Amino acid sequence: MAQTYKTQEEDPYCADLEFPAMTELVPPIEGKRVLDAGCGHGRYAEWLIEREADVLAVDKNAEMLEQARRRIGDRAKIRRADITEPLTFVDNSEFDGVICGLSLHYVEDWRRPFREFARILRPGGFLVFSAQHPVDEYVAFEAENYFEIEQERMTWSASGEEIAVPFYRRPFSEVINPLIETGFQLDELVEPKPKESFKEKKPESFEKRLKYPTFLCVRASTSER
Ligand SMILES: C[S@@+](CC[C@H](N)C(=O)[O-])C[C@H]1O[C@@H](n2cnc3c(N)ncnc32)[C@H](O)[C@@H]1O
Repeated sequence: MAQTYKTQEEDPYCADLEFPAMTELVPPIEGKRVLDAGCGHGRYAEWLIEREADVLAVDKNAEMLEQARRRIGDRAKIRRADITEPLTFVDNSEFDGVICGLSLHYVEDWRRPFREFARILRPGGFLVFSAQHPVDEYVAFEAENYFEIEQERMTWSASGEEIAVPFYRRPFSEVINPLIETGFQLDELVEPKPKESFKEKKPESFEKRLKYPTFLCVRASTSER
């Protein structure tokens, strides 16, 4: 999966829906220290580097990190780390921002990464993240109980074989309350619609996704004090 993840990045759901919404949420980052949490192949790390941010990219998967290394070389620091564990090599208030694209749905309780992001961010620092939309997950996976966090499996077939990837779906309250409980303030929440460029690639999905939620993109910040 790590080897074929590039296909996923180029899929219009990522390239023409989630990615543009996320990058529009990121404040000016030139010269800022930014953590790319769950960096995968380094899609966001590269975008941040191109805008002259000082980037640390982390992921728990060694093969994903290998691909990220090939993409960004020595233009950023790359470390293996699990975002559900303390980032012991990072000091308090060391970062101006954290970006976390499509990685949180592999984590059951978001309080753990959010608490750690809050610790490493300076006062007034930003967190920008994306996730599957709770409504889409609830319907697509015919959830037993909307109000519970439930483990589901998503089928990935880019490698030619079907792989069932476990993830956690959750109600809306389990997106917002963990943020508030860990000291973040919610600045902006976007339920993005596909860009026109999506239409040429997947016209039927385009029509559906104009009327039906797919992702959530959020910008939150730590208190200025
Ligand atoms: C769908 S990919 C997204 C990659 C990248 N952020 C992007 O948007 O292109 C999810 C990534 O999250 C990583 N991941 C999942 N759980 C993680 C954890 N607990 N700690 C760190 N990385 C994790 C996976 O290894 C994978 O690279």
